[in-house]
Amino acid sequence: MNAPSSNQRILVGVSGGIAAYKAVVLVRRLIEAGCEVRVVMTEAATRFVAPLTFQAVSGHPVRTTLLDAEAESGMDHIALARWADAVVVAPASADLMARLANGLADDLLTTLCLATDAPVHLAPAMNRQMWAHPATQANHARLIEHGVTLLGPAAGAQACGETGEGRMLEPDAIVDALLANDQQDLAGRHVVVTAAGTREPIDPVRFIANRSSGRMGFALADDAARRGAVVTLVAGPSTLPTPARVERIDVETAQQMQTAVESIGVTDIFVGAAAVADFRLAAPVDHKLKKSGETLSLELVPNPDIIRGVAERSGRPFVIGFAAETDHVREYAAAKRVAKGMDLICANEVGPGKGFDRPDNALLLLWEGGERELAQADKRHLAGEIFDTYHQITQDRDDASS
Ligand code: CTP
Repeated sequence: MNAPSSNQRILVGVSGGIAAYKAVVLVRRLIEAGCEVRVVMTEAATRFVAPLTFQAVSGHPVRTTLLDAEAESGMDHIALARWADAVVVAPASADLMARLANGLADDLLTTLCLATDAPVHLAPAMNRQMWAHPATQANHARLIEHGVTLLGPAAGAQACGETGEGRMLEPDAIVDALLANDQQDLAGRHVVVTAAGTREPIDPVRFIANRSSGRMGFALADDAARRGAVVTLVAGPSTLPTPARVERIDVETAQQMQTAVESIGVTDIFVGAAAVADFRLAAPVDHKLKKSGETLSLELVPNPDIIRGVAERSGRPFVIGFAAETDHVREYAAAKRVAKGMDLICANEVGPGKGFDRPDNALLLLWEGGERELAQADKRHLAGEIFDTYHQITQDRDDASS
C-alpha cells in the first residue's frame, strides 16, 4: 500500500500517558504525509514528553495552557479550533475521555475539542482494567454518540506489564485511519471562484450593492483547496477570512472582477458564486452628491457578464454557476444555465430568511440530462456536494464518450 498523502491541517492533542512518546512518531508521520501539524498538550502530558520535542518535530510552538496571553495574541484558541481540518488526540487517557464525554472545557485541549467543527478522533491508551471499567465504556459510548471517532485501542502487551485491550494504536495505523477518507480528487486542477457581491460606486461615499455575504463562494474555494486544487478566489468586498491555501484577489466592481478573472487565464473549473451587479452607473460622480429636494435619477448601464465570457472562451473550463431566484426556480435556472453556457447551475430560492447572508441554504443542481436536490444544509457541506456532482458529471461524460 502506498503511503497516504494529504495537505490537511491536523491538530494533534496529547494527553498524559506513557504512550505520549509514540505521539512524537505520529506527528512525524503526519508531516511526512504532507500534513501541517500543530500540537496541544495537557499539563499531564508534559510530564511524559517535553513540549520542546513536539516543537522540534512539528516545526511550531506547542500550546499547553488555555489562558496564555502571549500565545492567544498569536493564533487564539478559537482560531486554532477553526484552523484544524481534523483533531486527533493520541494518546487519549481515561481522564481525557471522561472530561470530553461530559463536555468539560477545563483545559486548552478539551476546549479545542468542543470549539472545533472539524472531526475529532481519539486514540485511547490506558491500562486494560481502566479501559474495561464501566465508567470508561459509558464515556466511550457517549463520545461516539457525540460524533467522535474512536481509533483503537489495540490489544497486546502494556507498559504496566499486563496484557490486554488498552494499547494505543500504532502511529502508522492512526495516520492511515485519519487520511483514509482524505479526497485529493481535485489535485492538479486550477479552480477559480468568484465570490461575494460587487459594489458599483455612485459617488465617493455611496454604492450599489446586494445582500451576498460571500459564504458560498468562500466555502467552495476552501473545499476545492482541501481536495488538492490550486485555487484562486476573486472576491468582492467581504469580511470573511481567506481560506487556507487559497490565493485571493480582492476586487470591488464587476468590471474589476472581470479583469481579474481574465488575467488568470486557463483554468480547469470556473465557479461563478459572486452576486455580480447587473448594472453600474453610466458615469459615477466624483464628488458627494447633494440633495436638492428634487427627485434624483441615476443612469445605469449593463455590466459585463463574467460567467458568460468564461463559457465563451476557447478551451473553456468546466463552468459552474448560480441562480438566485424568488420564484419559478427550476424553470428560470434551467433557462439561465443554457443561456449562459454553464455546465452546472446551482439554483436557490432567495427572499426573506432564504439564501443570502445565511450560513445554510438549499440548492437545486441542474445539468444537461440530470438534476439533484440538496436539502437545507451548511454552505460548507453544500460546497462538497457541488464538487462531488462535478465529478459525477465528468465521469458520466467520460463513460458516454468511451
Ligand atoms: N454572473 C456573472 N456576471 C454577471 C452577472 C451574473 O458572472 N454580470 C453570474 C453569477 O456569478 C451567477 C450567474 O451569473 O453564477 C447568475 O447570476 P444572476 O444574477 O442570478 O443571473 P442574471 O444573469 O443576472 O439574471 P437575472 O438577474 O435576470 O435573474
